Amino acid sequence: MKNQLVVVIGGLSGIGRAVAEQAAAAGARVIAAGRRATPAEWPSHIESAQLDVTDDAAVQRFFAGVGEFDHLVLTAGPVIPSARLADLAPEQAMAAFDVKVFGQLRAVKHAARYLNAGGSVTLTSGLLARKAVPGGLVKSAMNAAVEAMGKTLAKELAPLRVNVVSPGMVETGMWGEMSDAERGAMAQRAGAGLPVGRVGQGSDLAQAYLMIMQNGFMTGAVVDVDGGGLL
Ligand SMILES: NC(=O)c1ccc[n+]([C@@H]2O[C@H](COP(=O)([O-])OP(=O)(O)OC[C@H]3O[C@@H](n4cnc5c(N)ncnc54)[C@H](OP(=O)(O)O)[C@@H]3O)[C@@H](O)[C@H]2O)c1
Repeated sequence: MKNQLVVVIGGLSGIGRAVAEQAAAAGARVIAAGRRATPAEWPSHIESAQLDVTDDAAVQRFFAGVGEFDHLVLTAGPVIPSARLADLAPEQAMAAFDVKVFGQLRAVKHAARYLNAGGSVTLTSGLLARKAVPGGLVKSAMNAAVEAMGKTLAKELAPLRVNVVSPGMVETGMWGEMSDAERGAMAQRAGAGLPVGRVGQGSDLAQAYLMIMQNGFMTGAVVDVDGGGLL
């Protein structure tokens, strides 16, 4: 990926950080952006920036500052608790949509004019888009919206390529605040129920984003990387 500029929004942790690291290892120049400040022990060869995808003006300014680039990867997503309809707080659901659905939409809208021919956009949904689980209402709706958005944008923005990666259970901060022991136990429990016998790591997911960026024939696809979780 030499001479390619990759921007990863949500790239300061988890799956996005793994994408940033693998793209940089493949020779790309990488800018990783997210809401938090640059984490301690951040790799010096990857540029970092602070950006909140719910701030439309900031998103517009950010891409104007980046200028022309090649690949946009969006992994910004909110941490939201599971809630059944009866316990659902609509404001919390709307705030989550503002990041996961409208955040990705804002980013693509403001980035599109700067993306070079042969470039790509990769959105992120999640397994619950196509799996009904009580308590997963908001996540299901958000992720399904992202997948629908990806397919429409693949036609509207062609020849720019637009794809979606749908992660299953991946061990990241998305699981919320918990101790290492609790995290380990949850990974063990969730992994045991999957055909591959383990939950995913950021690096498992990053391989899919790298493949999509480099495969000029892929557009409008939703790529499941979920250890068989949808089966
Ligand atoms: N891990 C899983 O099991 C799983 C399963 C299905 C789907 N996914 C999806 O995969 C994507 C990546 O999640 P992850 O697992 O890598 O978790 P993660 O490490 O928590 O990554 C999410 C990133 O999004 C950033 N973010 C949140 N709100 C933002 C905002 N308003 N503006 C900019 N950045 C914002 C977070 O930064 P701050 O914390 O600083 O805000 C964080 O760096 C998400 O879309 C998630 O829904 C994950």
